[in-house]
Amino acid sequence: MRTVEFQNNALRLIDQTVLPGELRVIECRTPGEVRDAIRTMKVRGAPAIGAAAAYGMALAAQALAAGALPDALATLRAAGDDLKSARPTAVNLAWAVDRMLRAADATAGQANGVDALAGALLAEADAIAEEDVATNRQIGAYGNTLIPRGASILTHCNTGSLATVEYGTALGVIRAAHGDRKEIHVFVDETRPFLQGARLTAWELDREGIPQTLISDNMAGHFMRRGAVDLAIVGADRITANGDVANKIGTYTLAVLCKEHGLPFYVAAPTSTVDLALANGDDITIEERSSDEVTQIAGMRIAPAGVRAAHPAFDVTPHRLVTAIITEQGVLRPPFEPALQAAVAAAEAARQTSASGNEETRVRA
Ligand code: MRU
Repeated sequence: MRTVEFQNNALRLIDQTVLPGELRVIECRTPGEVRDAIRTMKVRGAPAIGAAAAYGMALAAQALAAGALPDALATLRAAGDDLKSARPTAVNLAWAVDRMLRAADATAGQANGVDALAGALLAEADAIAEEDVATNRQIGAYGNTLIPRGASILTHCNTGSLATVEYGTALGVIRAAHGDRKEIHVFVDETRPFLQGARLTAWELDREGIPQTLISDNMAGHFMRRGAVDLAIVGADRITANGDVANKIGTYTLAVLCKEHGLPFYVAAPTSTVDLALANGDDITIEERSSDEVTQIAGMRIAPAGVRAAHPAFDVTPHRLVTAIITEQGVLRPPFEPALQAAVAAAEAARQTSASGNEETRVRA
């Protein structure tokens, strides 16, 4: 099944906090439940939380009481602010909510009632989810061109089906290379402290039969120095206008290691992860999560009681350490600023064309 799916007026999510022990599906029936699922990381990964938030907005629209449209729009804006507050770093969350609000404004502008609003918002959330799947496959195809036959690839965190609606970004590239029978091997960083690599990426690769070796994060340098790694590929939570990349804590260290060892460091992400409003990575809000996630593993305390622990959930990799950014619009090389601007513009144009095509089909029908 998909990680994020809407069925029978409910958002169905794979609960990523109990994997790999259990494959459990949870249902959210209110925007508040969606916000909580994002906050507690039952659903996680930038594109997946974007799609989940879009369905959260669709649920908010379904709950609107018949009445004045300005009130309905104000209710939706409040629901959007609440969803956005769940996690601050991945821009896909705000991107999806803002896109849903634009769809609401456009529908309300045609003097439609709340039923039409609910229908339009569910259609927009479905479009976001479908686009994510198509986008990931495109990223996989472009990224595959960069993967040599027999490559040993290091990846961090989880960027697969679980982090998206389906298929994955960096893991989508790995999936595409494996599908192309390139006989690749993957080093999976366990990704302390929440262990998205050990719990989720290892689970996904295992299901796909992709050869892997799980390592703790501090082993990456050792294997690079031995010549066991050919390249690193990671996802992103936010890419600023100059190409700086916020991603799971530990990514920056990997990029520095790649530089030291002369290895390519690739970032795979959809254009919905690009935030042209921020000039550089210093402006990105880094989520601080509970120190319990550092002092405990799977609920068991591993540090002395009361010890102070820091937990920035993300770090920023400066653009100069990034070899290329793989998007659904192609492989972008430095200088990233103009390349990112062009990619975002092309993605927006493609969306407009597809939306007007759908509109035309509806009119003809
Ligand atoms: O805290 P998480 O697990 O949501 O962090 C996820 C990551 O950092 C991923 O690398 C990123 O969202 C890209 S997912 C395709």
